[in-house]
Amino acid sequence: MTMTRRGLLNAMARLGGAGAAYEALVLFDFLKPPPAMAAGLALPNDAGKGRTVAILGAGVAGLCAAYELDRAGFDVVILEASRRIGGRSLTLRRGDVLKELHTPAQLCEFDEGQWLNVGPGRIPHHHVHVIDYCRQFGVALQPYVFTSRANRVHTGHVGNGRTWQMRQAVHDLQGHIAELLSKCVSTNGIDLPLTKTDIEKFQNLLANFGGLTKSAQAGATRYSYKNEFGRAGFERSHGVGNKPLVPLNPVALDDILRSDLWNDFIFRDGEIQWQASLMEPVGGMDHFVRAFGRQSLRRQTGTIDGLVRFGAKVTAISLGNDRVTIAYDDSGSARTLAADFCISTIPMPIFKGLKTNLSAAYMAAARNLPVEAAGKVGWQAERFWETRDQIYGGISWTTDTIRQIWYPSSGFLGRKGVLTGAYMYGKNAEVFNARPVEERLHIAREQGERLHEGFGKFVEHGVAIGWDRMEHFRFAWADETDPAFGGNAELLATPQGRFHQAGDQITFWSGWQEGAIISAWEAVKSIDRQVNPAVKRG
Ligand code: ALA
Repeated sequence: MTMTRRGLLNAMARLGGAGAAYEALVLFDFLKPPPAMAAGLALPNDAGKGRTVAILGAGVAGLCAAYELDRAGFDVVILEASRRIGGRSLTLRRGDVLKELHTPAQLCEFDEGQWLNVGPGRIPHHHVHVIDYCRQFGVALQPYVFTSRANRVHTGHVGNGRTWQMRQAVHDLQGHIAELLSKCVSTNGIDLPLTKTDIEKFQNLLANFGGLTKSAQAGATRYSYKNEFGRAGFERSHGVGNKPLVPLNPVALDDILRSDLWNDFIFRDGEIQWQASLMEPVGGMDHFVRAFGRQSLRRQTGTIDGLVRFGAKVTAISLGNDRVTIAYDDSGSARTLAADFCISTIPMPIFKGLKTNLSAAYMAAARNLPVEAAGKVGWQAERFWETRDQIYGGISWTTDTIRQIWYPSSGFLGRKGVLTGAYMYGKNAEVFNARPVEERLHIAREQGERLHEGFGKFVEHGVAIGWDRMEHFRFAWADETDPAFGGNAELLATPQGRFHQAGDQITFWSGWQEGAIISAWEAVKSIDRQVNPAVKRG
């Protein structure tokens, strides 16, 4: 008798339990286990043979490339236009000064111990490279709460604009969809690709999915949506004695349809980048870049951040056959740096304006890479969202300009906390960021009021950042959703002799630290191949 695959799997499951069957599935290649950890770069420590690399930019990509190159035996110098490491990985705390171009400097006046991530604010669980470095460097992570059913959604598309709880929008919609489908399925004469037993199962699935109420009508079972179980919220919670929960009346389906919330806000946690779990470093995202900065060098004495020349604004890049020469401005003095290789992580809106001898096609790709602005507002406040609204983390959404309010995922029950009081991108952000800071704060205060009555009275010490207004960035990220992105990014990611690019902006993880790291690894591997053409690495 020959054993079929299914027979073998069943036998293995009986003998060895589900684990054995799983292993067998993996062997058969039916299930590929997703990598839980990034396979390390692991270049030998003499791969660099003392070659020099000039890295342009001390953000995540630049720091990561420097760390890996140093370990592989290269000599590294990092030129950084600003006075700090981290790039867009920026956390504001008391005493920090935020300076946009053409805007007066803002002083962060949060209380001691409060902080706001004005750049990246979350790490998806599948961003294995970022998480692996956190593991290696001992960067403590905590959960980042993306969604709470107590969060609010506001829409200008219904009447004068109303605010619902996330649970109303999600569960009332689910309930209505389930009821409609249930009616379709029980209509006689409809040609369904389901057997009678399948239909029964499907009816049960719908009842479960939508929280439907079952009733018998003329001998048949009917399912309807009434929010019987209070999933969408309740008028009164469970009480003592004979006092069950009193559910809210459902919002009508046509109201939900008109609200447009389904078009954008309420399904965001289904997007691959925002699926639970997400994490963030305890105490601020910049702990991640600081961890790179404090790593000891292998080849030289000191630490990675000791490789950085601050205030070095690159003006020109000249690619030769045996070296790359970088011209830069060092606080008014013109200087040059020559290295065997170069990795640029300079944001494309700045890079495209540099004087280079790179090909016309390459510089055209730099000009044509679609990029986006983003803006954020931060506020400190007493935790009214916890004491009045039962909100512990997550995001409220609105069709207003501010788009989002983020609640802190930590420090619950403390007296004060810091809110992200606006987070928007694209054209909306460009227009918003072009306003004076006071106006941005005024708008954020007024629009916050539509999500939380009294908002304007509670918030203090507002700060606003427009990434397209930041001198050394001039953008937030590349727009990988634009059809023009892929072709331009492909060329920009292609080594030009000894010149390489890295940075999230040339990856489909634009705007994510994971993109910065995977691109840094590619650049490092590519330089290794150029130095060691005859060596095959695992
Ligand atoms: N990384 C950015 C975000 O999470 C795009 O919103």
